[in-house]
Amino acid sequence: MSVTGVHDTERVTLARRAELGVRTHDTLAAPPSAELRPLEPDDWPAVADIYWDGMRDGLATFETEVPSWEDWDAAHLRVHRLVAELLGEVVGWAALSRVSKRRCYLGIAENSVYVAREARGLGIGRALLEALIAGAEAAGIWTIQTAIFPENRASVALHQKCGFRIVGMRERIAKRDGVWRDTLFLERRSEVIT
Ligand SMILES: CC(C)(COP(=O)(O)OP(=O)(O)OC[C@H]1O[C@@H](n2cnc3c(N)ncnc32)[C@H](O)[C@@H]1OP(=O)(O)O)[C@@H](O)C(=O)NCCC(=O)NCCS
Repeated sequence: MSVTGVHDTERVTLARRAELGVRTHDTLAAPPSAELRPLEPDDWPAVADIYWDGMRDGLATFETEVPSWEDWDAAHLRVHRLVAELLGEVVGWAALSRVSKRRCYLGIAENSVYVAREARGLGIGRALLEALIAGAEAAGIWTIQTAIFPENRASVALHQKCGFRIVGMRERIAKRDGVWRDTLFLERRSEVIT
């Protein structure tokens, strides 16, 4: 699966583009193409770096430390894990985790999606999330939910573009770095699973 399209080239730093081998001319004439594939254990160093990249801003998650592969692996569904590769480098990942062990809720999962800072704004987050949704629906998962800090406008926009709706604001739901934070709770109910 591949995705092309640069909808906001300004958001990708020129220095990092050069590192990735993407010349400005290339992005104007022929946008780079990201390939999606299953996330494998060998991808963990790159995936962990991207996770940390999102984590350190304080906008993406309550987590403040990157987990071990073993902990991450245990916390996420085996099948629904994707990475995006751009010019041979892992630049994004998305995965699902179970929200409940109760039988009635087995078709509900929570998603994570992270794109390397330098590769944002290229449509990679959307490609990852859309592929994750398609895989989830094919596996009978009818609802995907996520909690997003309201300040994380990119993530709110991405999820809304992918069919998530804002269910509501959870006020002072938990602390990050000792500060109470609100989250927006979003969900996407599949229309194909009836
Ligand atoms: C959120 C994140 C995954 C988005 O990934 P991305 O690859 O930059 O997003 P895309 O380029 O695919 O954009 C998807 C849509 O969101 C919109 N969008 C992206 N960034 C935006 C921003 N900063 N403000 C407003 N809208 C934005 C785009 O316009 C796009 O819509 P379109 O497809 O109609 O053009 C990325 O910013 C990221 O990794 N952030 C840090 C980690 C994080 O916050 N993860 C989510 C935790 S809840």
